[in-house]
Amino acid sequence: MKGLILAGGRGTRLRPITHTSSKQLVPIANKPILHYAIEHMTQVGITDIGMVIGETGEEVRASVGDGSRWGASITYLPQPDPLGLAHCVQIAGPFLGDEPFVMYLGDNMLQHGLGPLVERFRADPSPAARILLCPVADPHRFGVAEVADGRVVRLVEKPTEPVSDLAMVGAYLFTGAIHEAVRAIRPSARGELEIVDAIQWLLDGGHAVGHDLVDGWWLDTGKKDSLLEANRRVLEDLPVRIDGTVDDRSDLDGRVVVEAGAVVRGSTVRGPAIIGRGAVIVDSYVGPFSSIGDEVTITGSEIENSVLLERVRIDGVPRLIDSLVGRDSEITRSNRPPRATRLLLGDHCAVDLQ
Ligand code: G1P
Repeated sequence: MKGLILAGGRGTRLRPITHTSSKQLVPIANKPILHYAIEHMTQVGITDIGMVIGETGEEVRASVGDGSRWGASITYLPQPDPLGLAHCVQIAGPFLGDEPFVMYLGDNMLQHGLGPLVERFRADPSPAARILLCPVADPHRFGVAEVADGRVVRLVEKPTEPVSDLAMVGAYLFTGAIHEAVRAIRPSARGELEIVDAIQWLLDGGHAVGHDLVDGWWLDTGKKDSLLEANRRVLEDLPVRIDGTVDDRSDLDGRVVVEAGAVVRGSTVRGPAIIGRGAVIVDSYVGPFSSIGDEVTITGSEIENSVLLERVRIDGVPRLIDSLVGRDSEITRSNRPPRATRLLLGDHCAVDLQ
């Protein structure tokens, strides 16, 4: 069985981070989301993986390489314009051939990976497609499924008035039947070839589409809050590891990872948290659910529930929470009430708070 990972698109909901970086390369616990997708593929024995890339393709290639690090082989499939998920399947047609494949959106994370989806297919390979559903509070943000008598009967992409709370998860198992479907459909109102419409086409043609409720948590990391939530979930499971230097005036509490070359002086780090390679934390507090990127410097500051990308510098900031800060940004000092700072900053930003 082959795999297809989608790592193109514009990532508009994560701007400004995605002005300079691919949304699939934003780190969760200091590792790009996309790397988890590759791990999930290889965990179920899928090593022959096609990866659709768009305008950030060069950066994706630089991060992933040929896949040998994971024992996988990656075939890059450039998509000239982001024309939809079904368009990605069209482009991947010659790579995929007629055999069944798993398609995984590179900005989605599943707690239990792809195992349950693939096992269900192996137990019953008769449906033309298998999808995963998850009840959510905001179904209008997703593809939504209507299920009647235990069967999927209708799928609608981002409906204004959702018929159910069942969102379509970004992991799908398709048989070769999907190729005819993606050729048959027409672009949606937003000008994209929707995978939801291709699956609906299968249903309309009398094909069975299997579905399961997702087991464990699922997150689409395409927005800041869901990205921070994914970060929290992954940090909660990280094994403690201290490879860097921690002085005797510092306290590490709970699940903390301090990578090699990182230095913690006169500071408290309360886990779950990760401190990246070469980071320097001085006279500061790093609170739960923080991922501090490589070579970040934090002095005289307090940080909690935040993701800081590489080389961020934070100095004299009393309290920074719920924030995602792009590479090479600088944040210094603030006294404005409420005594907290919430930011979504692009790469190379410099913010000087009052
Ligand atoms: C895509 C799909 C949608 C699905 C979602 C899951 O939406 O079109 O059906 O529910 O992924 O993450 P997008 O995130 O590209 O807007």
